[in-house]
This record gives sequence, C-alpha cells and structure tokens, in this order.
Amino acid sequence: MKEIKAFIFDLDGVITDTAKYHYKAWRRMANELGFDFTEEENEQLKGVGRMESLEKILQWGGITLPEEEKKRLADQKNQWYLEYIQDISPNDLLPGAREFLLATRDAGIKSALGSASKNAIPIVEKLGVLHFFDALIDGNKAPKSKPDPQVFLLGAEALNAKPEECIVFEDSLAGIQAAKNGGMHTVGIGYMLPPDVADFHAGSLEFLTPSIVITEVLKHST
Ligand code: G6P
Ligand code: MG
Repeated sequence: MKEIKAFIFDLDGVITDTAKYHYKAWRRMANELGFDFTEEENEQLKGVGRMESLEKILQWGGITLPEEEKKRLADQKNQWYLEYIQDISPNDLLPGAREFLLATRDAGIKSALGSASKNAIPIVEKLGVLHFFDALIDGNKAPKSKPDPQVFLLGAEALNAKPEECIVFEDSLAGIQAAKNGGMHTVGIGYMLPPDVADFHAGSLEFLTPSIVITEVLKHST
C-alpha cells in the first residue's frame, strides 16, 4: 500500500491570488518600456522566478538590455509588487485554503510551502497561515526556477518524506512539471491548466479533504 506522508503547496494561485499583482507590476514595467503583454502570455510567468520572468517579458517586447538595467527593472517591479500586496490579509486566502491546511494538520499529514517567490514567507505571515507549515521553501532557499524540481525536493527533504510520498498542489504548468520532474504526485488547482496534466484537478481547495485528494491521486498512479 502506497503511503502519502506530506503535502507541498505552491503559494500564488493555490493559497492566495497574488498572480494578479505580479501581472499588474510586470505590465506596468512593460508599458513603461513601450509595449504590453496579454493575460495568456502572463500564464507562462506563473511559477517562474523573477529574473527568468523578466527575460521572457523583454523577449516578448523585442528588447535587449544590459545586466545592470535588467536588475534595476526587476527591483522596480518588486517594489511595485510589494506596494500592491502590502494590505493583504486573511481575507485574501483563496476559498477553502485555510480549512484544507487545518484538515491536513488534523489528518497528521506534514505540510510544506514550495514557492518560487522570494516574498513568500512575509505573504504567508500576512495571510495568517504560517503556523500550518512544517517547512517553508521559498525562492531564496531554492534559486532554481520551476520546472526544476529543487523547490519541491527541498520541501520533501525538510519533511523527511520521499518524493513518492508527497503530493504537490500547483496552479501552474511549470510547477506541475517541477513536481513530476521530482517524482511526486500532483494536484492541479484552478482552471488555467491544460486538462489531465496533473494526477487530479480541482478548481480550488474548497470542498476537498486530504482523504479525497489521496484517494483520487493514488487512482492515477501505478
Ligand atoms: C511565483 C509566481 C511567479 C513569480 C515568482 C517569483 O512563483 O507564480 O509569477 O515570478 O513567484 O516571485 P518574487 O516574489 O520572488 O518576485
Ligand atoms: Mg502558482
């Protein structure tokens, strides 16, 4: 019998919707540089680290810049992003997130946060859910961008779980690929993912329970 010991949660798009603020800040930067990009293009930035996101956006705009200018733009974008999120609170949790984290703890399953964001820990603190996590892996601890599995492998290691004992909850394609590259089970959250990329898909964490998730995920693994 296969055993699931740990859940690893992405932050943006799973626990809270900060993706809209990333988009707003990157778009402001692009507009200042004289171009725009669509919400569909923005999907490709989900789960992708700050500098890698900037590279993609500059490519869309057909712009080449020296390294120090790129660094300045990334810092500026982050400053705007921090302004947009300064007032986030528990009201900004996505539906069912708090309840699911609580049920996970009650079921004796370990949880880790596995986010590419360097701002992940202060955000989780503001959302009032920091205490639910047994381990916190953010973009500072895991510099390799998803689809590299580093962020999730560090999470599994911190929880003393093998990859095959972990389920990763992700809203982005890069994140689902990262979890699969790490040999983990996957739950796709939200409606933006292509069908069937994850072992199990749900619109949000609302109406899910740890046992439903484990049963559904294990049905898909051989
Ligand atoms: C998350 C988001 C990405 C973001 C990345 C880095 O993975 O989905 O859109 O680019 O974090 O975020 P940061 O807060 O470090 O700029
Ligand atoms: Mg995400």
